[in-house]
Parts: sequence; C-alpha cells; structure tokens
Amino acid sequence: MIVLGIETSCDETSVSIVERKKNTQFGEILSEQTLSQINKHQKFGGVVPELASREHSKHLDYLVKKSVKSAKIKFDEIDAFAATVGPGLLGALLIGSNYAKALAIITNKPFLAINHLQGHVLVSRLKNKITFPFLCLLVSGGHSQILLAKNYNKFKIVGETLDDAVGEVFDKTSRVMGHGYPGGPIIEELAKKSKSDYQFNLPKPLIKDKTFNFSFSGLKTAVRRIVESGLTKDQKIDLAFQFQNVISECLISKVGMAINYLKKNNQIKHLVLSGGVASNYFIRKKFKELCKKEKIIFFAPPKNLCIDNATMIAWAGLETINFRKRGSKINLAPKPRWRIDEI
Ligand code: KG4
Ligand code: ZN
Repeated sequence: MIVLGIETSCDETSVSIVERKKNTQFGEILSEQTLSQINKHQKFGGVVPELASREHSKHLDYLVKKSVKSAKIKFDEIDAFAATVGPGLLGALLIGSNYAKALAIITNKPFLAINHLQGHVLVSRLKNKITFPFLCLLVSGGHSQILLAKNYNKFKIVGETLDDAVGEVFDKTSRVMGHGYPGGPIIEELAKKSKSDYQFNLPKPLIKDKTFNFSFSGLKTAVRRIVESGLTKDQKIDLAFQFQNVISECLISKVGMAINYLKKNNQIKHLVLSGGVASNYFIRKKFKELCKKEKIIFFAPPKNLCIDNATMIAWAGLETINFRKRGSKINLAPKPRWRIDEI
C-alpha cells in the first residue's frame, strides 16, 4: 500500500510518499519533499496566513511531481491520497486538501482526511513498535497537550495548556530578545552558551496545581518584562537558559503526574514526545531521565519528523486505511479548529 500525503496547514509545503508492505508493521519513506516558507514570514515575526496560502499554491504541484519522480514509482501505483484537513489556517488547509481530493477523484482512489495532531502522534509508530495505548506529550507552535493515544483515531486529552502553546512562547521570547522566527532553535542555541552567572525570578505557572494542565502566558510576560528592563548580551543568554529550564520543569512535572496516574492502572508502556518543540535536545534529555526514573520507554521521532512534515500525514493515512479500509468523504470541509479528541 502506497500513500501520498500532503501537509499545508501552516508554513511548510510538504509532500511525502510512504509505503507499507503487506503484512509488515512499519513504513518506508519513498520520498519526502518539504519547502519551508520561513524566510517569507520572518520579517513579519510570525506566519502571515494569506502569504502562506499563496506560497502553498505556488509550489504544491511542483512538489507532488518531484516526489513521484524521486520515489521512482508510477503515479498509478499510489493507492490513496492523504491531506491535513485541520487544525490549521483555513486558506492553507484548503490548498492541500483540495489538491489531494482532486488527485483522488481523477484516479478513483480514496481520499484520506487527516488531523495534523494525529499525524504528529502517530508518526512515532512509523518505524517503532509503539503499541496502543501510549502516552504522548505533543508540543508545537499551536498546541501543548498530554494525550493518551488509545487507537489510530481515538485520543484522550489528559491535560493541555490553558493559554499559550510552548512553541508560541519560545517564538515570542525570541522576538522580544530581538531574534528571529522560529524562536525555538534560536533560544536552544543561546541557552547552550549560558554560564548561569545571572539568576532571574521566573514563575512556574500551575506547577503546584493538581490538574494535568499547563499555563505559559505568565512566564511569557515575566520574560518580556525582564528583557524590557534592559539586559546585557550575557544576561540574555542566561535568561534563555533559565526560560528553557522552567518550560522543561513545568512539562516534566505534569507528564510525570500523568505517567504515575496511568501506570497505576498498568495502561502504558511508552511515552512519546512529538511536535516541533520535541526537536529540542535539552527537553528530550530531561524526558529521557524522567522515563528512566519512571521505568517506561521513551521515544521521540527524529528531528525532521518532529517539525511539520507530510510523512506524518501519509503515515497517518496508512494507519487509517489499514484499520478502517475506506476513504473519507470527498465533500469534507477543512476544519481549522479540529480537536484531536473529535476525530
Ligand atoms: O510542529 P511544528 O513544526 O508546527 C506546528 O504544528 O506548530 O512546531 C513549530 C514550533 C515553533 O513554535 C518552533 O519555535 C518550535 O516548534 N520549535 C522549537 C524547536 N524547534 C522548533 N522549540 C524549542 N526548541 C527547538 N529546538
Ligand atoms: Zn505541527
């Protein structure tokens, strides 16, 4: 079974072709073509929706053709077409999902409507034996959720952010410090240079609260106030390190609570870390330590599969067709606010 996946929910135009051979559990990436629009949005300090749609329209057709060619397959060998239909920017979702629908109609093959967050979670199973149910911390630019993945299409939100997503806070912190977008990799690099000469008083919102929820807007505001008070280059470096540390502590504390809660019922063997922020090596290291202590298996996909990519969409398509055996409705409209527990 070969599925072509399209991801256009935000600022990456990505096309991937993934194969799952008969009676095998894992997938093989035949080709992935991703075009980042980052340099187009950088000067605005964030993603401009209208611009994102235009860029997707401009490049998608070329990327599909390039993918088929570099996968060394014939177009009619593709068994189904998967695309992200939500959550994301409406205009951007329309471009990718309509393109996939058109391909499905002309080839008379199934169209598979994929939830972007479902893709981030399921991609952990592409090459690894991670069995349902498993726990997943999904941390990206738009979402921060602790999820219990029960099946390919059943996810329970155990906890989530009450305000800003982690990636968003990294992006805003980078911006107030006068650096670029996306902020996550910039802050991670800055933090590596810290000698911890300066100490800042940063809040750890909700850390003592008994729910599994997070809150990051207070931390974001505290960082902004400290930066606006005027900092030297070295102080900014130390602030970046302490900011990253507080984020990691807040995530670890809540995920640790969730592991303990679920372990009592013997429900889970794995913790998966996914989404753009999961490409942060400092945060990965902290989670590896947590899992060692809690005696559960830790897994984070390789960096290129943590940030937005179409392989996770093609793979979620393969998981869907494997379990459900049929495609989605062709008249299904994009869902910009599609929650993962509403699949
Ligand atoms: O999953 P993703 O590519 O797109 C969304 O679905 O949002 O995540 C993008 C987010 C951005 O906010 C970016 O700053 C953050 O992931 N990110 C990181 C790192 N690399 C990307 N955050 C922290 N550390 C990183 N190394
Ligand atoms: Zn994403």
